[in-house]
Amino acid sequence: MCGIVGINGAPDVCFDLLAGLKRLEYRGYDSAGVATLFNKEFHRQRAEGKLINLERIVKEHPLPGIIGIGHTRWATHGGPTTSNAHPHQGQYVALVHNGIIENHRELRAGFDQTLFQSETDSEVVVHLLDAYIKKGYDHAAAIQATLPQLKGSYALAVLFKNAPDTLVGICRGSPLVIGHGKEGRLFLASDIFAFADYCESVTYLEEGDWTELKNGTVTIYSHGSTHPVTRPSLPISADIASQATKGLYRHFMLKEIMEQPEVLQNTLEKYAHSEAWLTKMPTNPWKKASGLSIVACGTSFYAGCVAKYWFEEIARLPVAVDIASEYRYRHPALPADSCALFISQSGETADTLAAARFTKQKKIYCASLVNVAESSLAREVDQVFQTYAGFEIGVASTKTFTTQLIVLAALTAEVALLRGEISAEERATLQKDLLMLPRLVEETLKIQGSLQRLAPQFERVKAALYLGRGALYPVALEGALKLKEISYIHAEGYAAGELKHGPIALIDDKIPVVVLAPHDVLFEKILSNVQEVLARKGQVILFTDNDGARALNTLAEGMQVCILPKVCSFLAPIVYTVPMQLLAYHVAAFKGTDIDQPRNLAKSVTVE
Ligand code: G6P
Repeated sequence: MCGIVGINGAPDVCFDLLAGLKRLEYRGYDSAGVATLFNKEFHRQRAEGKLINLERIVKEHPLPGIIGIGHTRWATHGGPTTSNAHPHQGQYVALVHNGIIENHRELRAGFDQTLFQSETDSEVVVHLLDAYIKKGYDHAAAIQATLPQLKGSYALAVLFKNAPDTLVGICRGSPLVIGHGKEGRLFLASDIFAFADYCESVTYLEEGDWTELKNGTVTIYSHGSTHPVTRPSLPISADIASQATKGLYRHFMLKEIMEQPEVLQNTLEKYAHSEAWLTKMPTNPWKKASGLSIVACGTSFYAGCVAKYWFEEIARLPVAVDIASEYRYRHPALPADSCALFISQSGETADTLAAARFTKQKKIYCASLVNVAESSLAREVDQVFQTYAGFEIGVASTKTFTTQLIVLAALTAEVALLRGEISAEERATLQKDLLMLPRLVEETLKIQGSLQRLAPQFERVKAALYLGRGALYPVALEGALKLKEISYIHAEGYAAGELKHGPIALIDDKIPVVVLAPHDVLFEKILSNVQEVLARKGQVILFTDNDGARALNTLAEGMQVCILPKVCSFLAPIVYTVPMQLLAYHVAAFKGTDIDQPRNLAKSVTVE
């Protein structure tokens, strides 16, 4: 949930730490802090709120030294105050932490309470390490004594006064990567993005690893031991660094929405071009599976909901879709011959990861669909599908959702063929449709101007309804989520047929009702639902295609109609997602909210 950085060997390290934190701010922005170790003393600055507040302070009072750590926080234990901001420091140790120390209360009880300066779970690690150093342990022995006492997840970057040249990194359950920079500079960070343009290569720490970065040399140990282990260093590709800028756009979110034709094409190239069609797919688990469990959070969960329609209709594979935080605790019945698929942009969402580990323990075949190829969720499952969306910086997911959908669509077609539910010719037709998507999405993006003009209507709106049927119902849910997340307008997605069972009570002449209605087999049905809304003076904004617009006839007079390109019903969820993203974006831009970093949210939620 939080972002951490550590740097060893940089003159003016405090400014490099700030630059790294800027790249990680999407992970949390409740407070930020940096600390350096210089002349056997810690030097620290922390500030509430966004990184800019810390930047102002550090500019006026730079911290000395060439070794330091930094943190950008999404508050869990303790409010977003300066005293709860990391780094936390004791007599000998200063550290930053991402994750949760689950037994922090129990551990805290063993200390003199006046030692504590914050309400965080993290601070207890400082005092544990400090206590061992006081007893005369060196830093490695203090780490070895402390780690077995910690329950939960942690990525830690630690400075020790008794090892002033060493930056220590420790990781269990939360990601930590090492960047190899020029002139012996070494970096630690929650993700590669923090240092991509300063480093040529990266090393991914594995679960339970800890590392010492000292005098240009990296040593890695596994599970608290002091026997070095080898982990590969991988080159960092040049385009990662280039993704860090907004280019001509005001917000990353808009840039990422507009990138969709390109990233859909990149993803398709891996999955749906004739020779490459899911070549790595082992046939057995999917061919014979009695069912599929799809588990995810947030927007990724809605991708799973769309996929349920596809898998059941086309591949005749029964699917249960679960919100990850519910799944483990409801004791799901998982037949031994079923498969599970975990969807996550980051591949680090704690609830999704925990759900995958739970399922693996039950000896169920587990696959994941991730955007970050090196993520924990990619490493820990039997089979990985990747989206090629590139980095997504805007906290609200956009291009990663549509690329998830395209992989799920390709997977559905492949599984349907494997299971003998469709012929090779039918699969070829689906493939042909898929290959048209980048162009269709490009065309759909042209609707942007009319959505921008529509946005002022939402200025005083308190709530909005989104309606869809079939696989467009989860798209309605996703559209409502986008509006909530970035414009702070309450919005609900409903299956249009369900309207009459409750939500219709909300309708008056002030509530916008966004309707997703491609001209397909359900068009007439959804039109009846629209009439129910119009009869109660609801403000209908209807998205359809030319055929749908023609079929509306005089009904069109009572509503605003937005025309999208004609698309086959299999792929309509992908095309109809795009105007939902643009509408939410322009409403939020009109209201002037913080679009890329909406209040209280974070991009990657690595706590349960
Ligand atoms: C957070 C983000 C959402 C995202 C969800 C799941 O809540 O704000 O945009 O959909 O996490 O993230 P994942 O990385 O697992 O897809």
